[in-house]
Amino acid sequence: MTGPKYTFDTCPERSGFGSLKWDKYKGGDILPLWVADMDFTTAPEILDALQARLEHGVFGYTVPYETPVQAVLDYLSQRHGYKAEAPWLDFLPGLVPALNICCRAFTQPGESVLTTTPVYPPFLSAPQYANRELITVPLALNQNNLWTLDFDALEAAVRPDTRLFILCNPHNPVGRVYTREELTELADFCLRHDLILVSDEIHCDLIIDPTASHITTATLSPEIARRTITLMAASKTYNLPGLACAYSIIEDDGLRQKFRKTFRGLITEVNCFGYTATAAAYKHGEPWRQALIHYLRSNHQILADFVQRELPGIQFHPMQATYLAWLDVSALGLARPAAHFEAHGVGLSDGTPFHGRGHLRLNFGCPRDRLLEALEKIARAVEKA
Ligand SMILES: Cc1ncc(COP(=O)(O)O)c(C=O)c1O
Repeated sequence: MTGPKYTFDTCPERSGFGSLKWDKYKGGDILPLWVADMDFTTAPEILDALQARLEHGVFGYTVPYETPVQAVLDYLSQRHGYKAEAPWLDFLPGLVPALNICCRAFTQPGESVLTTTPVYPPFLSAPQYANRELITVPLALNQNNLWTLDFDALEAAVRPDTRLFILCNPHNPVGRVYTREELTELADFCLRHDLILVSDEIHCDLIIDPTASHITTATLSPEIARRTITLMAASKTYNLPGLACAYSIIEDDGLRQKFRKTFRGLITEVNCFGYTATAAAYKHGEPWRQALIHYLRSNHQILADFVQRELPGIQFHPMQATYLAWLDVSALGLARPAAHFEAHGVGLSDGTPFHGRGHLRLNFGCPRDRLLEALEKIARAVEKA
């Protein structure tokens, strides 16, 4: 009998491999559902490509070469309708370095950087590490109970010294996929205030709401493309973050030169396995990605149903993308929510570093049994709150 081609119900033991996610609770009895990597083995098509690269046996310095460059350009064009060109592309060992480079390259000390909260913590630390001022504007709920950009608040917060807006789309941690209308309004806002738009789209292939679709900011208009820094990677979707391969697309020559000048000599080259895996993901990974989305959708549904049925003290607004759920536990009145849940055997990300006090982020990119076990532990933790 043949089974399904891809399985997500079982996955290898991760302890003993230096896993950030698992080693945090090494030797303890806590299920880690925190940091944003999944427990699944990556696509077999990617493993085959890595195996072939391994067998080549020579691991010298590697520069961006035709296979990954063409794979990225084809992927952007075919999947996202973005006709990017090779000279606009830089491979980087991660998007966190890219966020930090952007703050240094495009702003001067004393100038400010604008973003919305809650958000992935490096969005908040990058301006501060560069001694730039950080301005944050909370996201708001729209009439459909979806998180959205609050343009009145953005208008009130932006200042003459603001140079950069950092966008997370799809959004980590609230899982929102912005519509064309919302992105166009944001583009107008950036044009009106002469802001450079850093568009982190690392989660763009993890859309779990079948009615939502990702729009690459740079495809909105040539005007906005000229001031956009697009940041992407195959790493979140195909579970490859440890291979350290991400990339930026910068159309404007002047911005790209500033960006390159800022990281020159400081950022390491991408390694040969990162290139191989990224190219294989984009060229051969689509069937696996489809199966993954199917699995994540079910996990998300199980979580949403469980919260609604069993956890009235927790609020969970609808989400459209990512495997990261943003749970409002403020009604439980816990002084240290993450520690309370850890004490009941589940490791979740504390909301405070995201500027989301009273919230926890739960990673459901794990086998279903593990999710169900975690939900039972969460229910007991809520009971004891
Ligand atoms: C929005 C966002 N950007 C960037 C990253 C990390 O990127 P990298 O591992 O390439 O540094 C993450 C990881 O969770 C993320 O959620």
